[in-house]
Amino acid sequence: MTVRDCRILNVPKIGSLMGNLSFIESGRPIPFAIRRTYWIYDVPGGEDRGGHAFRSLKEFVVALSGSFDLTLDDGMQTRVVTLNRSYFGLYIPNLIWRRLENFSTNAVAMILASEKYSEADYLFDYSEFLKVKGEVGV
Ligand code: TYD
Repeated sequence: MTVRDCRILNVPKIGSLMGNLSFIESGRPIPFAIRRTYWIYDVPGGEDRGGHAFRSLKEFVVALSGSFDLTLDDGMQTRVVTLNRSYFGLYIPNLIWRRLENFSTNAVAMILASEKYSEADYLFDYSEFLKVKGEVGV
């Protein structure tokens, strides 16, 4: 898994004079079954979220409102992706270190996840993350 495997995916958008509607289903456009949804909001100016990786969890992140930056790190390369529209999102495979930062006022990050919450799936320590990457060979 490299930062190149993190992909921007468009979400269907039904536009009309009454406004827009977008939707996501398991497998469309995200390549996993959704087992959990959570959202991050009311982030005070200058605060970051994330700062960890997951052993097996895959996620899809959408800026439902406002904007923020996602910094992705595969241990070799980093990449920064700005999310600022609700009709596309970022697919993040497992074993990618991520940080969410530069939240605008009223930003809402919605995250669809491939598994239920499991603290054991987190890699909180960057050197542990590099070790696991080396062992898994991805
Ligand atoms: P965490 O994943 O560290 O948030 P972030 O990466 O955005 O900084 O989670 C913060 C806290 O919320 C932590 O105590 C675990 C808890 N939590 C749940 O109970 N369920 C969940 O689905 C998530 C994502 C977090």
